[in-house]
This record gives sequence, C-alpha cells and structure tokens, in this order.
Amino acid sequence: MADGVLELKVDLGERSYPIYIGSGLLDGIGARFAERRFPVKSPVMIVADEAIVDLYAEKVEKSLDAAGYKVTTVVVPSGETSKSLEMLDELIGAALQAGLDRKSTVIALGGGVIGDLAGFVAATYMRGVRFVQVPTTILAHDSSVGGKVAVNHRLAKNIIGAFYQPEFVLYDLDTLASLPIREVRAGLSEVVKHGLIWNAEFVQWCDDNAERLLSLDREALGYALFEGCKVKATVVSQDERENDLRAILNLGHTIGHALEAVAGYGVLVHGEAIAIGMVGSARLAAKFGYPPRIAEVTEALFRKIGSPVRFPADIGTDDIMDAMMHDKKFQEGMMVFVVPTDIGKVEIRNDVPSSWVREIVDGLREGK
Ligand code: NAD
Ligand code: GLY
Repeated sequence: MADGVLELKVDLGERSYPIYIGSGLLDGIGARFAERRFPVKSPVMIVADEAIVDLYAEKVEKSLDAAGYKVTTVVVPSGETSKSLEMLDELIGAALQAGLDRKSTVIALGGGVIGDLAGFVAATYMRGVRFVQVPTTILAHDSSVGGKVAVNHRLAKNIIGAFYQPEFVLYDLDTLASLPIREVRAGLSEVVKHGLIWNAEFVQWCDDNAERLLSLDREALGYALFEGCKVKATVVSQDERENDLRAILNLGHTIGHALEAVAGYGVLVHGEAIAIGMVGSARLAAKFGYPPRIAEVTEALFRKIGSPVRFPADIGTDDIMDAMMHDKKFQEGMMVFVVPTDIGKVEIRNDVPSSWVREIVDGLREGK
C-alpha cells in the first residue's frame, strides 16, 4: 500500500492490469492516463450512471482536462434495463459523434450495469478501444474485475457479451458514501460470496465486522473490497475465459440470475438475487451430504448484513425453472451449480436432480 492506496494486480501476461482502491482517487485519474501514455489527441468518453453523474463526473472530467484530454460524458439511465442492445447502439452513436478513434478510451463511471455496458461498447467500437473501470458501487468490486462485459437479451441476462479486460480499475471509496443502504447490503453480499468461495477466515472477518461495513467505515470497506478483488483477481488470472476454475465465481448465480429475470429486473437487485441463490446452493450442499452448518452460516450472515434470503411469494417455481434453462450455465441438458463443500470451498456440480432444484427453490419463497 502506497499513500493509503491499496493496489492489486490481475495477472494476465501482456494484458495484466492494476486495481487501485482508496480515497480521493478520482482527482488523480488524469495523471494515471498520462503515466500510461494514453494518447492525448484521442478523445475520451465517460459513460456515467445518471444517479451519480452530478456527484462524480466533474472530478473525472477536470482531472482528465488538466492532463490535456478531450472528454465527453454520456449519461445512461440507472438500472439493469440499460444493459440493452438499444443502449449499446446509442453509445456507439455517441462515440462516433464525439470523434472517438481507435486510440480512444471509454471510462465506465458507475456500478456493474455501467461497467458491463460501457465495457461492451469499448470491446465492440472499432473492434476494441481502451477501457477503464471506475466502479461506484460495492457490488462492482466483482463486476469491474475480470473482463466480463455484456448486455442482456430479452430472453436471458448477459447473453450478448465478450471477455474484454480494462487497462486499470480505479476504486474511489469516497463515491460509496452516496450509496442507498439497499445497494450497500446487496454489494456486501457479493463481498461475502468471495469469502464463501475461497476464504473461510474472510467470511469470519465479514461476520465480525458487519456493523463497520454497513456503516461504510473506510478502513473496513477498503480491506473488504481488497480481499474480495483479490479472490476474483486470483481466479481470473488462472482461468480468464471460464474454461474451468472461473466457474466457481458463479456461486448463487444459477438460481439468482433466474430469479432476477423472472422477478422483473429491478424487483430484486442483482446482489439480493445472488444472495438468495447462495442460500439455495448452501441447501443443495446439504442434499449432497455436506455439513448443514454451511447453510446455517450462509443464511445467518446474509441476515446480519440485511440481504434478503427469500424471494417474493408471487414468483412461480415453473417460471424460475424455465429461466434456468436459458442461462449460460445450462450445458448439455444439465443445470450447472456451484455447491459449497465447506465454508470457503466449493465444487461444480452438473448432476443435480431437477427434483432437488425444485424443492430448494420452493423452500426459498417468502413465508417458508
Ligand atoms: P447498478 O450498476 O445498477 O447500481 C446499483 C444502483 O446504485 C443503481 O440504481 C445506480 O444508479 C446506483 N448507484 C451506483 N453508484 C452509486 C453511488 N455511488 N451512489 C448512489 N447510487 C449509486 O448495479 P450493481 O449492483 O453495481 O451491479 C449489478 C450489475 O453488475 C448486474 O447487471 C450484473 O449482471 C453485473 N455484474 C457483472 C459482473 C461481471 O463480472 N461483469 C459481476 C457481477 C455483477
Ligand atoms: N461474476 C462471475 C465472473 O466474473 O466470472
């Protein structure tokens, strides 16, 4: 750590990149562009979430301007529905109008929605331009690292996408102060996910420090995001394209993505849906004979954070089962699940009987 900035590396050979986590980092983004010799003559486009554009875009613009870059900011409506082909088309149009060329940079300023969307713009505009992630949600410690970028199709989430790594990730903790508490809770559930996958000690630390995290204590938050990003960076460095190991990062996704889609995007926010999915996976673990304690610890920790652990009663099991069949994780006629074998350890299973899945899903409905 230098000057209070925590630094990590995603190790991908020539495409390796740093993640910076700390306070007051937005002011220094221009200097980071200059130090990397991003060409000053090529315009930069900031893709910003409308909820935060007035709060943070000016800092980024001023810093880049001071370093000599010409910047255009494009505002995108908040929410999952912006991860669409229509919005991609709009942003490509905006990039052309702003004169972005092959040496230009697209900056994502926002949460996971903006990161995934702007990243896909960067991956596709002129067959790929530079991309920088400036995450402003806790959840985006997950989405801003690892290079999965995508938009949704009406039938399935994240189904039109690419692997496209950023040049760097700049995580300014100050931006998290404006997050609604619901998004804080949802983001923390993804922090816990990284512990559940990889690091039992970190799960215990999250449990011991839940209050500090919920009150956005900078030191606790910086450490938690660093540890979460470390798990993600370690896994992605070993398996960038999800040939095998990276699939473990999908803990909670099989049920979670289906729930998110069926509930209607926004009814359950992403982190909430994944938290419910993780409780489901922990219950599946018990079916496979792993200790019931896994489900108890998982559910108790999400309750402590204030993440929902049940989905709304009006969502039908058949609809959820159908949505799972459209997921990218549905392969060779089987649903693929990440199942915890202990706290901090998981395995991939493609032999889960659909009767078990149905039973687990039923048990996750509110009122159960
Ligand atoms: P989000 O981007 O929708 O942000 C959540 C909400 O917070 C939005 O309403 C947004 O307007 C608001 N917001 C953002 N920053 C704020 C701030 N600093 N202050 C106040 N409000 C703020 O959602 P998210 O939870 O950040 O990300 C979810 C998305 O990320 C989903 O689309 C999911 O599929 C994707 N995701 C991608 C990956 C990946 O590897 N690419 C991993 C996990 C999740
Ligand atoms: N969020 C899952 C992954 O990045 O692979």
